[in-house]
Formats: sequence, C-alpha cells, structure tokens
Amino acid sequence: MSKKNAHFPAEAGMCNFCHDPHSSEHSSKLLAFDTTELCFQCHDKGALRSGQSIHQPIILGNCSACHDPHSGDDKNLLLKSTPDLCYSCHEKKMFELGVLHEPVEDGRCLACHDAHVSRNENLMASKQPDLCFTCHDQKNYTSGKNVHRPVASGRCSTCHNPHSSKSNNMLAKSTKALCFDCHMEQEFMGRNQHGPFKIGMCSDCHDAHQSEGKKLLHDTVPKLCYKCHNAEGFRRAKVHKPVADGRCYDCHGIHSTSDRGLLKTDVDDNCKKCHKRNFDRPHPVTKLPKAKDGEAKNHPLSTVENPRRPGTRMSCSGCHDPHSSDWGNLFRYETEKPADLCKYCHR
Ligand code: HEC
Ligand code: HEC
Ligand code: HEC
Ligand code: HEC
Ligand code: HEC
Ligand code: HEC
Ligand code: HEC
Ligand code: HEC
Ligand code: HEC
Ligand code: HEC
Ligand code: HEC
Ligand code: HEC
Ligand code: HEC
Ligand code: HEC
Repeated sequence: MSKKNAHFPAEAGMCNFCHDPHSSEHSSKLLAFDTTELCFQCHDKGALRSGQSIHQPIILGNCSACHDPHSGDDKNLLLKSTPDLCYSCHEKKMFELGVLHEPVEDGRCLACHDAHVSRNENLMASKQPDLCFTCHDQKNYTSGKNVHRPVASGRCSTCHNPHSSKSNNMLAKSTKALCFDCHMEQEFMGRNQHGPFKIGMCSDCHDAHQSEGKKLLHDTVPKLCYKCHNAEGFRRAKVHKPVADGRCYDCHGIHSTSDRGLLKTDVDDNCKKCHKRNFDRPHPVTKLPKAKDGEAKNHPLSTVENPRRPGTRMSCSGCHDPHSSDWGNLFRYETEKPADLCKYCHR
C-alpha cells in the first residue's frame, strides 16, 4: 500500500468495500465479493468482457494476477512491468528464438497487443497488415503494381514470426523452405541447379512482397542477370541476336535444368533450334584445305574432348561464343579471318 500510485478506493480508506473485516465465503483474503466480480463493482464489465478475443485471466476474473489492488509502482498498478509481467505466464524462451523483433526486445508487448480484450484475434491492437504498418512503411510492401498473393491478403505472419526467429528477417523458417511451403518444389528441381537457387537465395532475384515488373523480380532480364554476371561478356563488338534481345531464356533455364551450363537442352541441340542449316550442311570443315579431298563432313563435336578446355566436350560453343565476340562469326578466339581459328587447337 506504500507504492508510488495508490488505487483510489484503497487510498480513500474503503477497505471494507472490498474486504469483509470479519469473515468471507470468497477467499482467505476476506474479500467481500467473489474475485470474478469484485473489480466489476466499479469497473465496466461489458468493456472488459466483449470482443473477438478475451485474455484468459480476464475470463477467470483473475485481475490481481496483473494488478495490485492497493497500490503500484506504475499508474496502472501493475505487479511488474512488461514484458516480465507477461512472462510470468508465457514462456519467455518462446519469444527469444535467436534474433528479436525490436519492439519485443524493448519489452513493448503492448505496442501490438491489448492486455484485456480486443476486437481482433490474438488480442491484437489492430489487424494485420495495418498493425505492421504502424511502424513499417506500407509503400515498401503492398503498393507495388504486382503484390505477392499472401502479402496482398495481409497475413504477414504466415512468413514472419512477429516476436523472434532463428532465421534472418524474422522468417518463420529458411527462405527456401518457406517458399516451398506454397510452391511445388518438384517443379523447380532439375539436376543442374543455378548457384543462388541452390543455396536458397530466392530473394536475390525475387522481392518476397511486391514488384513493379512481373514475377516479383527485382529487375527485368537481362539486367537482373548482370547483377551477378559480368555484363562484359554480353556486350562485345558483335552481340548474338537472342542475347541482344535479352532473351537469355531461349537457351537457359532459370532455376534449374537437366543439362549442364543451366542450358535447357544439350549445347548443340540448343543451337540446332535456330541454326538447323549448319547441321544439315557440312560446317565449316569442307571449305578448308585439309578436307578438300575427303568426304564432306562436319567438324567433330561432342565425340571429342575440347583441348582448350580440358574436361569438356567439343561443341558449337567450342568455336563460337554464344553471347558476343569482338571477332567475326562470334568466334571465341581472336581471328582476322576464319582460318586463324584453327591454330588454337591444331598445330
Ligand atoms: C479494490 C478492492 C480492495 C480494497 C479497496 C482493499 N483491498 Fe485489500 N485486497 C484486495 C484483494 C483483491 C486482495 C487479494 C490480493 C491477492 O489475491 O493477491 C487483497 C489482499 C489484502 C491483504 C492480504 C495481503 C495481501 O496483500 O495479499 C490485506 C492485509 C489487505 N488486502 C488489506 C487491505 C486494507 C488494510 C485495505 C484498506 C486500506 C484494503 N486491503 C483495501 C482488494 C482490496
Ligand atoms: C470501489 C470501487 C472500485 C473497485 C471495487 C475497484 N476499483 Fe479500480 N479504480 C476505482 C477508481 C475510482 C479508480 C480511478 C479511476 C480513474 O482515475 O479514472 C480506479 C482505478 C483503477 C486502475 C487504474 C489505476 C489508476 O489509478 O488510475 C486499475 C488498474 C484498477 N482500478 C484496477 C482495479 C482492480 C484490479 C480491481 C479489483 C481488484 C479494482 N480496480 C476494483 C474504483 C474501484
Ligand atoms: C494479463 C494482465 C492483466 C490482467 C489479468 C488485467 N489487467 Fe488491467 N491492465 C493490464 C495492463 C498491462 C494495463 C495497462 C494497459 C496500457 O498501458 O495500455 C492495464 C490497465 C488497466 C486499467 C487502467 C487502464 C484502462 O484500461 O482503463 C484498468 C482499470 C484495469 N486494467 C482493470 C482491470 C480489471 C478490472 C481486470 C480484471 C477484470 C484487469 N485489469 C486484468 C494488465 C492486466
Ligand atoms: C496470469 C497469467 C497470464 C499473464 C500474466 C499474461 N497472460 Fe496472456 N494468456 C494467458 C493464458 C492462460 C492464455 C490462454 C492460453 C494460451 O494461449 O497460452 C493467454 C493468451 C494470450 C494471448 C493469445 C490470445 C488468444 O486470443 O489466443 C496473447 C496474445 C497473450 N496472452 C498476450 C499476453 C501479454 C501481451 C501479456 C502481458 C501484458 C500476457 N499475455 C500476460 C495467461 C496470461
Ligand atoms: C510487432 C507486434 C507484436 C509484438 C511487439 C508482440 N506480439 Fe505477440 N503476437 C503478434 C502477432 C501478429 C501474433 C499472431 C501470430 C500469428 O498470427 O500466428 C501474436 C501472438 C501472440 C501470442 C499467441 C500466439 C503465440 O504465438 O503464442 C502470445 C501469447 C503473444 N503474442 C504474446 C506476446 C508477448 C508476451 C509479447 C511481448 C514480449 C508480444 N506478444 C509482443 C504480434 C506482436
Ligand atoms: C511498434 C513498432 C513495430 C511494429 C508494430 C512492427 N514492427 Fe517490425 N520492426 C520494428 C523495428 C523498430 C524494427 C527494426 C528496424 C527495422 O528494421 O526497420 C523492425 C524490424 C522488422 C523486421 C526485420 C527484422 C530483421 O531481422 O532485420 C521484420 C521482418 C519486421 N519488423 C516485420 C514486422 C511485421 C510482420 C509486423 C506486423 C506483424 C511488424 N514488423 C510490426 C518495429 C515494429
Ligand atoms: C511470402 C512470405 C512473406 C510475406 C507474406 C511477408 N514477407 Fe516480409 N519478408 C519476406 C522475406 C523472404 C524477407 C527477406 C527479404 C530479403 O532477404 O531481402 C522479408 C523481409 C521483410 C522485412 C525486412 C526487410 C525489409 O523489407 O525492410 C520487413 C520489415 C518485412 N518483411 C515486413 C513484412 C510485412 C509488413 C508483411 C505484411 C504486409 C510481410 N513482410 C509479408 C517474406 C514475406
Ligand atoms: C503462403 C503461401 C506462399 C508462400 C509462403 C510463398 N508464396 Fe509465392 N505465391 C503464392 C501464391 C498464392 C501465388 C499466386 C499463384 C498464382 O498466381 O498462380 C504466388 C506467386 C508467386 C510468384 C509469381 C508472381 C507473379 O506475379 O506471377 C513468385 C515469383 C513467387 N510467388 C515467389 C515466391 C517466393 C520467392 C517465395 C519465398 C520467399 C514465396 N513465393 C512464398 C503463395 C506463396
Ligand atoms: C537468378 C534469379 C532467380 C532466383 C535465384 C530465383 N528465381 Fe524464381 N524466377 C526467376 C525469374 C527470372 C522468373 C520469371 C520466369 C518467367 O518470366 O517465366 C522466376 C519465376 C519464379 C516463379 C513463378 C513461376 C511461374 O511460372 O509463374 C516462382 C514461384 C519462383 N520463381 C520461385 C522461386 C523460388 C522459390 C526461388 C528460391 C528457391 C527462386 N524462385 C529463385 C529468377 C530467379
Ligand atoms: C544473385 C546472383 C545471380 C543472379 C542474379 C544470376 N546468377 Fe547466374 N549464377 C550465379 C552463380 C553464383 C552461379 C554459379 C557460378 C559458378 O558455379 O561458377 C551462376 C551460374 C550461372 C550459369 C552457369 C551454370 C553452370 O552450371 O555453369 C548460367 C548459365 C547463369 N548463371 C545464367 C543466369 C541468368 C540467365 C541469369 C538472369 C536470369 C542469372 N544467371 C542471374 C549467380 C547469379
Ligand atoms: C543462344 C543461346 C544462349 C543465349 C541466348 C544465352 N546463353 Fe548463356 N550460355 C549459352 C551456352 C551454350 C553456354 C555454355 C558455354 C560453354 O561453356 O560452352 C552459356 C553459358 C552461360 C554462362 C556461364 C558462364 C559463361 O559465360 O560461359 C552464363 C553466366 C550465361 N550463359 C548467362 C547468360 C545470360 C545472362 C544470357 C542473357 C543475357 C545468356 N546467357 C544468353 C548459350 C546462351
Ligand atoms: C533462339 C534462336 C537462336 C539460337 C538458339 C542460337 N542462335 Fe545463333 N543466331 C540467331 C540469330 C537470329 C542470328 C542472326 C542471324 C543473321 O543475322 O542472319 C544468329 C547468328 C549466329 C552466328 C553468326 C554471327 C555473325 O556475326 O555472323 C553464329 C556464329 C551463331 N549464331 C552461333 C550460334 C551458336 C553456336 C548457337 C548455340 C550455342 C546459337 N547460335 C544458337 C539465333 C539463334
Ligand atoms: C571447329 C570450329 C567450329 C565449330 C565447332 C562450329 N563452327 Fe560455326 N563457324 C566456324 C567457322 C570457321 C565459321 C566461318 C565459316 C566461313 O565464313 O567460312 C563458322 C560460321 C558459322 C555461322 C555463320 C555462317 C553460317 O553458316 O551461317 C554460324 C551460324 C555457325 N557457324 C553456327 C555453328 C553451329 C550451330 C555450330 C554447331 C553445330 C558450329 N557453328 C560449330 C567454326 C566452327
Ligand atoms: C576449340 C578447338 C578446335 C578448334 C578451334 C578447331 N578444331 Fe578441329 N578438331 C578439334 C578436335 C578436338 C578434333 C578431334 C581430335 C583431333 O583430330 O585432333 C578436331 C578435328 C578436326 C579435323 C579432323 C576431323 C576428322 O573427322 O578427323 C579437322 C579436319 C579439323 N578439326 C579442322 C579444323 C579446322 C579447319 C579448324 C578451323 C576452322 C578447326 N578444326 C578448329 C578441335 C578444334
């Protein structure tokens, strides 16, 4: 009764309003009313008992689990300040799983929850996503042209743990596992996986919340690719037509493929899609002196090893750079005329 703030009736000496000085049917503390009714003699029961969610101790009428009926150190006569008050019933370690959300770290449970009742579920002070937007700028999450479905539906906590998390950005689990909760993992899993995809860095390319362009991408292709791949190799003097058109997907997959080099099909088959002629007609060997007398045939491809790149097979891209080149015919190596090319492998 000696703490900083006194409860009005206790200070006014109305001990007998709450206590029966002689005996009580209600508790060992000689209370004049049942504990579930005592406080409602003066405080509005309706306001504390109606809402989408009512805190369990309120339903039980256990006001003194949180309040001192006589006096308190704070103006609300609380037995302890938050979050310790809350941790007297809720297990603290569930709120300290690794990295803490700043308002939780600051003990501000009441920034998001009401202590007694709420119009919203989980005693939320307001509904998501508005709750989150009291501190985070809405324009970063739901005002883009293309908003990710679960974000648009406002359930931020399907992906984020609002209190704390072992993962970065308070994600409920690792990014990859999170995405595959809703997206079919099998559809993405080819034998050959793209570096950042393999290690689950989905957000290197996708914004989990929104984007101006399609598919939640941070940027359009090919600019997106040049964030990690040196653009030099794609901008030399002569640029291969599909590359100049930014159509990396004509040849490459995105997440994974069954062929190496993240190619949709084997290198040579890939070139064949657009350059069938070079397969039907001997190329380029027939034009060259050595082969004059022999049977007209193509240069050997996947049947032999590429001496310039040990461990890989010869292919169309053994002589041509599929992206761009400073020399004629998209040659991989410096040449003034086609025949200069041969010396890189034949002496
Ligand atoms: C608003 C109602 C209310 C008023 C007014 C009130 N009390 Fe209490 N008092 C309670 C309740 C409720 C408890 C039981 C608290 C608990 O269960 O922890 C209690 C407990 C007590 C106890 C038991 C020890 C304790 O703290 O648990 C004493 C002694 C006591 N009150 C004395 C007084 C005196 C003396 C006054 C007047 C100066 C007074 N009370 C005024 C509600 C009241
Ligand atoms: C006899 C009437 C009465 C009873 C019974 C009563 N209160 Fe109060 N209570 C008041 C009054 C009057 C105020 C001051 C209201 C104000 O300032 O607006 C108050 C204020 C409070 C406050 C706010 C602190 C403050 O000083 O403004 C809390 C918390 C509180 N009461 C809790 C309780 C609890 C818990 C019980 C039951 C154990 C209870 N009261 C029972 C009359 C009562
Ligand atoms: C789980 C803990 C908890 C319980 C149980 C609880 N309160 Fe509170 N109460 C609080 C907290 C925390 C505040 C301060 C709210 C704030 O700062 O926004 C508060 C504030 C109050 C206030 C003053 C501000 C207001 O909302 O008018 C009153 C009066 C009050 N409580 C009455 C009660 C009564 C009556 C009961 C029982 C029916 C009760 N409380 C049960 C935690 C609790
Ligand atoms: C006297 C014990 C007690 C205290 C103190 C307490 N709670 Fe609770 N709380 C419960 C119980 C019991 C439940 C219901 C069972 C559960 O969900 O664990 C509950 C449930 C909740 C819920 C979920 C409500 C719902 O509708 O599902 C929230 C949110 C909550 N408490 C927040 C708080 C906050 C914030 C504090 C501190 C201001 C706090 N609690 C202090 C006992 C307490
Ligand atoms: C940034 C807002 C925010 C803060 C701060 C916050 N919570 Fe919550 N809390 C939520 C949201 C949102 C949910 C609902 C989670 C869901 O939808 O699964 C929730 C749910 C709960 C629940 C019920 C479900 C569960 O996870 O057990 C309890 C209990 C709870 N919070 C207690 C607390 C306590 C105690 C504190 C302070 C240590 C606190 N909260 C701080 C936003 C917050
Ligand atoms: C009371 C203010 C407040 C509310 C409400 C709030 N946050 Fe925060 N949140 C912060 C602050 C402060 C930070 C740390 C600074 C920053 O990163 O902006 C933060 C950081 C975050 C982070 C980044 C954590 C990290 O590891 O970098 C995420 C994710 C987050 N909040 C999600 C949410 C979600 C989801 C909600 C709604 C359920 C929410 N916040 C509600 C204040 C709040
Ligand atoms: C589909 C899952 C998902 C949903 C739903 C979601 N987020 Fe996120 N959020 C993420 C991921 C993944 C990251 C990490 C991004 C990164 O690594 O750059 C993140 C990061 C954040 C961050 C920290 C980085 C930043 O952008 O400042 C905040 C804050 C945040 N989210 C708030 C929200 C809010 C508010 C909502 C609801 C409107 C929400 N999130 C809904 C997946 C989600
Ligand atoms: C809670 C479920 C859920 C989670 C978790 C989730 N998504 Fe989605 N995502 C959806 C739904 C629903 C759609 C819309 C599907 C449709 O349009 O067919 C979608 C669509 C997309 C799209 C296509 C958008 C467009 O404009 O066509 C991309 C890209 C995407 N999600 C990436 C991600 C990434 C990356 C993650 C992990 C950070 C993730 N998703 C986590 C449910 C989810
Ligand atoms: C290197 C960049 C990159 C990475 C990393 C990446 N994606 Fe994508 N993703 C894309 C591009 C580009 C598209 C759009 C393809 C298109 O336009 O057809 C896309 C499309 C999608 C789509 C939409 C598919 C559809 O048909 O609508 C989903 C879902 C998706 N990605 C999920 C993920 C997930 C989950 C991860 C992480 C495990 C991930 N992505 C990693 C670049 C990436
Ligand atoms: C976030 C960084 C990042 C972005 C963005 C990115 N990549 Fe990659 N990419 C990598 C990494 C890392 C590797 C693996 C490099 C290695 O293994 O040496 C890789 C490898 C590749 C490979 C070679 C695969 C192999 O098995 O040899 C191709 C092809 C490729 N990326 C194409 C693309 C295309 C097309 C885009 C744009 C749609 C793109 N990348 C965007 C990081 C990225
Ligand atoms: C005409 C088909 C084709 C197009 C279009 C294409 N690539 Fe490639 N790319 C290939 C082939 C074939 C390889 C394998 C070359 C080799 O190692 O033999 C390759 C290899 C790569 C590699 C692995 C490293 C390297 O340079 O060898 C990256 C990264 C890459 N491509 C990115 C891109 C990007 C980004 C685009 C779009 C700007 C793109 N590619 C467009 C056919 C293509
Ligand atoms: C999506 C269709 C497409 C694919 C796949 C494709 N190309 Fe091309 N390629 C073209 C087009 C279009 C031109 C320009 C033809 C023209 O200008 O007449 C071209 C031109 C060329 C040229 C001549 C460049 C010059 O400067 O004369 C070479 C060499 C070439 N491609 C090699 C390849 C190789 C090697 C592959 C496989 C790695 C390949 N192409 C895959 C569409 C494709
Ligand atoms: C051994 C090196 C070598 C290999 C392997 C090779 N080329 Fe060539 N390619 C050349 C040379 C040399 C020329 C120039 C021929 C000329 O101008 O006489 C050329 C020219 C071309 C041209 C432009 C002229 C034309 O015929 O349209 C295309 C397109 C082309 N090659 C596609 C391919 C494709 C597709 C493959 C895989 C089937 C391939 N090349 C494999 C060396 C090679
Ligand atoms: C990137 C390496 C490379 C380049 C460049 C290259 N070749 Fe070859 N060539 C090979 C390999 C490997 C073989 C098969 C092994 C061998 O016979 O040495 C081969 C075989 C040949 C054969 C024998 C074919 C047969 O079936 O026996 C001829 C002819 C030939 N090359 C001509 C040329 C001509 C002409 C050029 C220049 C236009 C050229 N090559 C450029 C790697 C290359």
